[in-house]
Amino acid sequence: MTYLLALDQGTSSSRSIVFDEGGHIVAQAQLELPQIYPQPGWVEHDPLDIWRTQLATARDALAKAGISASAIRAVGITNQRETTVLWNRQTGQPVHHAIVWQDRRAEPACAQLREQGHAATIQAKTGLLVDAYFSGTKLQWMLDHVPGARDAAERGELAFGTVDSWLMWKLTHGQVHVTDVSNASRTMLFNVHTNQWDDELLALLRIPKALLPEVLPSAAHFGDTAADLLGHSIRIGGVAGDQQSALFGQACFTAGMAKNTYGTGCFMLMHTGGTFQTSQNGLLTTSAAQATAQPEFAMEGSVFVGGAVVQWLRDGLRAISTSNEVESLAQSVPDSGGVMMVPAFTGLGAPYWKPDSRGTITGLTRGTTLGHIARAALESIAYQSAALLLAMSRDAVAAGGAPVSELRVDGGACINDLLMQFQADLLGIPVVRPAVIETTALGAAYLAGLSSGVYASTSELSHLWRADRRFVPTLSSARAQELMAHWEHAVRQTVAE
Ligand code: G3P
Repeated sequence: MTYLLALDQGTSSSRSIVFDEGGHIVAQAQLELPQIYPQPGWVEHDPLDIWRTQLATARDALAKAGISASAIRAVGITNQRETTVLWNRQTGQPVHHAIVWQDRRAEPACAQLREQGHAATIQAKTGLLVDAYFSGTKLQWMLDHVPGARDAAERGELAFGTVDSWLMWKLTHGQVHVTDVSNASRTMLFNVHTNQWDDELLALLRIPKALLPEVLPSAAHFGDTAADLLGHSIRIGGVAGDQQSALFGQACFTAGMAKNTYGTGCFMLMHTGGTFQTSQNGLLTTSAAQATAQPEFAMEGSVFVGGAVVQWLRDGLRAISTSNEVESLAQSVPDSGGVMMVPAFTGLGAPYWKPDSRGTITGLTRGTTLGHIARAALESIAYQSAALLLAMSRDAVAAGGAPVSELRVDGGACINDLLMQFQADLLGIPVVRPAVIETTALGAAYLAGLSSGVYASTSELSHLWRADRRFVPTLSSARAQELMAHWEHAVRQTVAE
């Protein structure tokens, strides 16, 4: 039997999963990652915590699988994206904590780029909207604020990387400084058309080129793990940012195929093949995981508050004591009784882009119960995702393609049948939950397997991918449209005074 090891380094935890060649989970291990909040709006990770937890889970997963590292054909890495690490090439020590993707400290630098009129150029080259979310201005902040960093960077003494790059440096004892196209595409420094670092953007953000890793396709030979770490040297054969990896793990390889990951927030991506498409609806364009040197793209949108609305019911309202209770509470009523909740706690993202909006609950009557509110909270995840998917479909049609015809789902909340059925009802298309919902890790394993000869092609992977359940729409399209109009009305109530 051939095995693949996926390292899944996420925002809140490090995980490792051993897959067999059929894509089945053999063993897994997980450790929480400490979060550091130095001041409001700032979020950091200690890169040494990232490394320590990731290595420990890899060892644990192998032990649980009862196999030696020599039985692993290749390692795949997938990771929280945009999070920025800067370290010394000589000592291997980070020069600052990693600045996490959620961190907003680089907003003033982004405002300046927008004011100076650079947004259109940046979007045309990178597919991104100018925002503190991406790595470029986080790296710029470190170079400007860590004493001596800029000079050391100019002298070639420092290395920058996203989390994949940092892990590969550590896994190879500093032998490789590499990343893949999907991670590079989140830096705001990378030209996604040419798959090269962009000199004009580097100059604009004052980033010395000597800092940057080499960029490879997502399925490639990135390096080999040092033998002492896992007991045997293993080829690192696949790397992708977690959302692109999930798109790959869902076997969405061609234009129009889309996935939504239901986590704390939701991330929706639609493959657009080899076409770089600019959204008319506030979505991002990003590099998809690429099995070859040929550029491939996806459109992306995110819902800021997805599963987090259930945490709010639990910790804020104290309406439930465990998150699992939400489904039974929501099911205690036949529908939301006209209650609509818009959890715009931190503003609204695509397709609305209203950063100052705040949450609202509409349609309350004397008969409203906690059940209705729980149901409205759960449904808000589906409404926000539906608004995103409809925007993507509009973009696809505007570019001469077809609207999305099926949505593949993953992430923790996709096990909630009520939510998935409502999602299908709103969208009027099937919502499909795969047999293996760990699609992020699976994508990395698939990429590693492709580059190491376990799989011959993506069409072989399409055959391996299996649905667990298909949620077919049961509402009329007139009723679904009525509900979406009701939602849009509630969204209009969230605008700040
Ligand atoms: O863009 C941020 C995303 O990659 C983070 O994903 O799953 O680690 O929260 P996650």
